[in-house]
Formats: sequence, C-alpha cells, structure tokens
Amino acid sequence: MIGKNIFKFKQLDSTNTFIKNNISKLKNGDLVVSKSQLKGKGRYNNKWVSEEGNLYFSFLLKEKINRNEIFGLIMKSSVSITSLLRVYNIQAKIKYPNDIVVNNRKISGILIESIGYNSIDQTIVGIGINVNQNNFGDIDKKATSIIKETKLRHNVEDVLKKFIQIYNSLNENSEIFQEYIEKSVVIGKEIIYKNKSYHIVKIVENGNIILRHDSEEILVERDDISFTDYY
Ligand code: BTN
Repeated sequence: MIGKNIFKFKQLDSTNTFIKNNISKLKNGDLVVSKSQLKGKGRYNNKWVSEEGNLYFSFLLKEKINRNEIFGLIMKSSVSITSLLRVYNIQAKIKYPNDIVVNNRKISGILIESIGYNSIDQTIVGIGINVNQNNFGDIDKKATSIIKETKLRHNVEDVLKKFIQIYNSLNENSEIFQEYIEKSVVIGKEIIYKNKSYHIVKIVENGNIILRHDSEEILVERDDISFTDYY
C-alpha cells in the first residue's frame, strides 16, 4: 500500500532525489509530493520541467524484488494513470514502456530508480502528471495536460488522492498485463533497431519485446531500445 504517509512540499529539486537522500528515514509506501521541482528528472537524463500546477510525486517501495519485476511496477503505474485519466473522461494510451499519451501527446511520465541490480531492495517510483498547464512552449505539439484535454482546471491534490486509491486497489495479477497490452500503442508499429526495420510483434510479460523482420523474429530487452523518437 502506498500513500499512508504523504510528505508535502512547496518546492524540491526532485521528489525522486528527495527520497534517495532520505531513504533510510522513509518507510515502505511513503509518498513525497511537491508543488514544483527545480531539477525535475525525466528518463534518459532528460529534464522534467516542473512548474506549479501539475502533479509531481514519488513513492518508495522497500521490498525485495528482482530486476524482471520492475516491469510489473511500470505496468501497474501506467495502468493506474490511464484509469485515473478515465475519471476525467480522457482516453489515454501507453507508449511502451512507460509514457502515457493522449493522441500521441505526452500527458504523464514515470521514472523508476532502483537500488541494487540483480536483487533490488528499494525502488523509487516517480510520476509526473500534467494537470493545469496550458502551454508547453517548445514542446507544445508533443505534450498535453488534463486542462488541455478537458478545458477544466483540477485540484492537484484530488488528482493525487485518486491516483493513490486506484493504485492501491490494483492487485498484482494478469489483469494488469491485459490492460497494459490493450492500452499499448506500439504493437504493430515499425521501428529501426540496429539499422534494420522491424515490426513490433509483442510485448512479453517481463517487459521484453519481440520484433519481426520478414520471417526473422528477435527478442529485445526493454533497456536495449529507446522509443523516444518514434510515433
Ligand atoms: C519521463 O521522462 O517520462 C519520466 C518523467 C518523470 C517525472 C517525475 S515528476 C516526479 C518525479 N520526480 C522527478 O524528478 N521525476 C519524476
């Protein structure tokens, strides 16, 4: 269960970094939320510009898991976000592995950082959801928010409360995988991998993907491929 303890801040460098710096004092499921972030982090060392009005939070899982189970967390978080957005009548999709998009524009991102490699003891799940931001400057064509989709402002704390409820109500079971696959936009799409064009055939339950070129099928590990430049 997450969010039994919630630590709220007006401004932090990054909610993920805050958890990392205080990891020994924090408990399993503790959640940190900040109104804005000065050094919000995205995947692949990107910045996550974090002005006030959107939701920026991270939670800590102090459970021993193996590396393959990280994808379970990605799926659970992604499916929780798409379900949350349905509450606002937004039909969001998942761009493998963990971008949440609406009509190809990103509305939410997830940054998972884990401590340990083969056997992971502690995992930080950081989530950004665009709520009340109307303009994204240079990336305006690539980004959206709840307000852009619905024309309505929403209380950021309510959005977080709903996320926590939904996340805690999901059990680790195959329904999450089914839902993740149903919401995924990548299956059937074309991608260049090692200078060769492939079609994405399947996402496997551990997060690896199967690509096909004519009759050749290859299995690619999740971290070996970046979809940033695609669709
Ligand atoms: C991505 O690149 O899509 C992941 C973005 C994750 C952003 C969130 S905002 C809350 C948490 N704190 C951070 O510094 N990053 C994550």
